[in-house]
Amino acid sequence: MADIAVFIERYTVTRSEEMGALMRLGQVAQRLGHRLDVLFRPDMYKIPDYDALFIRALTDPLNSAYVAARMAELHGLRVIDDPDSIVTCCDKVNMYSHLRRAGVPIPETAFLRPSELTPERGRELLRDMGSPLVLKAPYSSFSMYVDRVSEPLDFVSLSRRYLRRADLVVAQRFVPSEFDWRVCVLAGEPLFVCRYMIPKKRWKVLSYMANGRVVYGDVQSVPVARVNPRVLEVATCAAAAIGRGLYGVDLKQVGDEYVVIEVNDNPTINAAEEDVSAPHVYERVIRYLVGEWG
Ligand SMILES: Nc1ncnc2c1ncn2[C@@H]1O[C@H](COP(=O)(O)OP(=O)(O)O)[C@@H](O)[C@H]1O
Ligand SMILES: [Mg+2]
Repeated sequence: MADIAVFIERYTVTRSEEMGALMRLGQVAQRLGHRLDVLFRPDMYKIPDYDALFIRALTDPLNSAYVAARMAELHGLRVIDDPDSIVTCCDKVNMYSHLRRAGVPIPETAFLRPSELTPERGRELLRDMGSPLVLKAPYSSFSMYVDRVSEPLDFVSLSRRYLRRADLVVAQRFVPSEFDWRVCVLAGEPLFVCRYMIPKKRWKVLSYMANGRVVYGDVQSVPVARVNPRVLEVATCAAAAIGRGLYGVDLKQVGDEYVVIEVNDNPTINAAEEDVSAPHVYERVIRYLVGEWG
């Protein structure tokens, strides 16, 4: 029997789908003979008393979740997400560099230095990578600092804005699609697959309106066995380029090939969404945490 801690923040359980996933996880842990407790920030000092830690909160090296991950690693717990994966995934330059080194296909990508954020360089990139061009701040998550430009002057103003809290800006070829493939990988194996649909008239899974409204698309859960093996192959290579833990790999299809848009640590697992075609996800996570698997 193992003692498992799940580190959460209040916002982790604002939606019933998130709460549902936590409850399922608790039930499965109990069925397998383990104990599972939820820890909030003030309970963090209890982490050394546990055998394993599962983080369900925004992971960023500046957040408490990262401190929790470090603490767990220091005390020899099994931990999802491990601190190294958090550090790699929260910086797109670092994340793409890992993928490139491992030969994982990604859209044509350039890392731009401050001296390159000029109209001339913008014109050159729009010519070479096509228009519109996608720009990303390295620290972006939830599509927050990802946008498209088609004019050299917009390129300059947006890229300079993204540079304010970073040393480099990511420029990428725009790859149109109706959905993002999401392959969740645990310990090197596909755990579940979804299609994250892109809402009509938008180009991102998640968009923010001027009035504060958030527009997001449907989540379509797809059985792993029904997916083109090549998506799974590219996704598992991408995950392996980061680590051996739990990752959400986002891919787009280009002809017969797939390109990786992003590897996320701390991927979303919501009840009645990501788990629909993969009811085993909770058991796999528990078995990984207690060291029976992976
Ligand atoms: N090169 C690209 N071409 C087309 N769409 C993209 C491209 N890069 C990102 N997107 C879309 O933008 C959204 C956010 O991109 P992503 O790189 O994952 O940033 P974040 O980490 O902020 O979520 C996703 O829906 C993704 O499909
Ligand atoms: Mg993303």
